[in-house]
Amino acid sequence: MKENVDRRRFLQHITAIAGAAIPVLFTVPGCATGLTTYRIIGSSEKIELPVLEYPELQEIGGAIEIESPSWPENIVVVRLSTSIFVALSSTCTHLGCTVRKEPAFFRCPCHGSTYTLDGTVVRGPAERPLQSYATTFSGTNLTIQLEK
Ligand code: FES
Repeated sequence: MKENVDRRRFLQHITAIAGAAIPVLFTVPGCATGLTTYRIIGSSEKIELPVLEYPELQEIGGAIEIESPSWPENIVVVRLSTSIFVALSSTCTHLGCTVRKEPAFFRCPCHGSTYTLDGTVVRGPAERPLQSYATTFSGTNLTIQLEK
């Protein structure tokens, strides 16, 4: 019951932020990244996440995955500190498998590449960091800029 109320409140909040867009939210447990996935329909240029509405982002090291038909790929959002978040591609830069979130790093299940939570490679064969998207945090809302 509480989950339904939280979800409804969150949907109302996202709708208010997105304006005319009609965001739809649901979660998909057990996705390839190991994170809860939130589906959002909205802008292809940026998204604003009301951080307080995501329980997973209340702790440092917490993360979620967000997806949208408007974006070319899913994005993993990680809280690195009280005020710093990163938004990363979940696509391994070696040969394109989806990386999996472990408590303190990301690991690719295909050939073992390992990345820190900010996307830096610490073990190959990948040589490049996970692609990152610019973020700004207002203290309540996280804005992820999807344009490159
Ligand atoms: S595709 Fe990720 S390590 Fe090869």
